[in-house]
Amino acid sequence: MENLKRTNLRQYLSPPLGLLFACLFTPAVVLAELSGSLEEDAITKRLTPDAQVNIDTSGASAPAGATLSADAGKKRYEYTCKMCHGTGVAGAPKLGDKALWQNRLAEGLDTLVQHAIHGYKAMPPKGGCATCSDEEIRKTVEFMISQVK
Ligand code: HEC
Repeated sequence: MENLKRTNLRQYLSPPLGLLFACLFTPAVVLAELSGSLEEDAITKRLTPDAQVNIDTSGASAPAGATLSADAGKKRYEYTCKMCHGTGVAGAPKLGDKALWQNRLAEGLDTLVQHAIHGYKAMPPKGGCATCSDEEIRKTVEFMISQVK
């Protein structure tokens, strides 16, 4: 009698449980499949800047105190800042767009550099490049400004 009751209970419970699992996991699997390629792209994009820091011997990742190459700012911009400043993500002033930079230029280079180093509203400190020296960020801001002058 006891055994019978238990089996019955299990029979009643298992379909709803099965359904519940199906509901929980199917969308997750489908979503994972769908977003897989997108996610990979996004991850590669996010990883690229700092992954390249380690293998780049041209001066783009020069330690503090070392002389930065003449195009260090441009390189850093390409690696780190372009992902936002190339298209204007989250209201980032676009590279080369004089109208968008006009008021910011009025703040003066030093303020812009400080904002780039320490962050400013939606602008993350050093654009997220924790390994960048202040000098490298200054060079990068100088490069960005040179594009709107
Ligand atoms: C995650 C996106 C993002 C990245 C990466 C990023 N920025 Fe920005 N940046 C912004 C946004 C958004 C603003 C506008 C902030 C505001 O004024 O609301 C901004 C503003 C700025 C400004 C203007 C600050 C001011 O005072 O008006 C400078 C200079 C700047 N960024 C430099 C850089 C440099 C240099 C890098 C790369 C090392 C970089 N940014 C990377 C999003 C980004």
